Amino acid sequence: MTDSSEHEAKLTQTLERLHAADDLDTLEAIRVEALGKQGWLNALMKTLGKMSPEERQTEGPRLQGMRARVADAIEDRKAVLEAAALEAKLATEILDLTLPAPQAPQGSVHPVSQVMDEIAEIFADLGFAVATGPEIEDEWHNFSALNMAETHPARAEHDTFYFHDRDADDHRMLLRTHTSPVQIRTMKGLSANKGEPVRIIAPGRVYRSDSDATHTPMFHQVEGLAIDRDIHLGHLKWTLETFFKALFERDDIVLRLRPSYFPFTEPSVEFDVGYSNEGGRRVVGGHGDAEGHDWMELGGSGMVNRRVLEHAGYDPDEWQGFAFGLGIDRLAMLKYGMNDLRAFFDGDGRWLSHYGFSPFDQPTLSGGVGARA
Ligand code: DAH
Repeated sequence: MTDSSEHEAKLTQTLERLHAADDLDTLEAIRVEALGKQGWLNALMKTLGKMSPEERQTEGPRLQGMRARVADAIEDRKAVLEAAALEAKLATEILDLTLPAPQAPQGSVHPVSQVMDEIAEIFADLGFAVATGPEIEDEWHNFSALNMAETHPARAEHDTFYFHDRDADDHRMLLRTHTSPVQIRTMKGLSANKGEPVRIIAPGRVYRSDSDATHTPMFHQVEGLAIDRDIHLGHLKWTLETFFKALFERDDIVLRLRPSYFPFTEPSVEFDVGYSNEGGRRVVGGHGDAEGHDWMELGGSGMVNRRVLEHAGYDPDEWQGFAFGLGIDRLAMLKYGMNDLRAFFDGDGRWLSHYGFSPFDQPTLSGGVGARA
């Protein structure tokens, strides 16, 4: 039985070392030495397989007992060392309650949302309310009611995202291609009651099957509509000019109306603003025909076509008005000097923290619509 006394000696030595271990690393090293894959106690356990059944009956419990004592000793020592480590930490760690709280990451307002808010703020001052409509539209509101013929190219499959389903009136459903259907929905909502003057803007998302450096399949527009008994093109021009002056925060905005064609307006005009190039950046302001200047198209507009008024339940012999539509993303790029449209919709947090706005920075007309805290 020299074997077993050798084992006892090894066991005693291991237990003594465990007891003396004064950090968790040492403890772990001793554990691996004894119970690890190559450990001496583990090697002994393996010899059980080669023993006769009688031998195994006495050796098995003996070796198991040794293993249990080592395992217990490790657990005990570990508990002592961990408790001591916690004690030491508590004794040295100081919690300074006067320190400022760590900064939580703060979100920001997307520039498009910011510009939409600014637009709504300016138009609110001019007496326009914000109207909304669904992004999933039917072809009657999106096209037919706006006097767009069945053969109008904008209705083509390759420009418009259509759904397979049709609505209860058997109209095809689609992602709205512009904010103009909100004109129809707003007027119908009012005319169903009594018919009354309208002054609304409708900002929102629109969709077209288009994608390159200057076009994204989803983009933002704002629609404007003013209906009354005596509205004329002069009101349109003044309204747009006043709006752009407020948005770009400069008085030298010059607006040019150019004859154009839209099915939903008659007459129709496109509007341009004068701008100049400063250090590779387009800066709005000045007369487009002046030295170093040019014109930039910003949107379409006109006097609402009488067929549109009829479709929306307004008597065109009593009511008339102007409508306009313009792209918001373009305005945001111009106002804040951004040059790639696609970055707007990449969702890159770094871009947002560079261009985004503090959520606590509310646009106000008195503080400047683009004021930053
Ligand atoms: N809906 C037009 C578009 O998406 C823009 C537009 C032009 C809107 C003229 C209007 C308007 O209200 O009168 O291209």
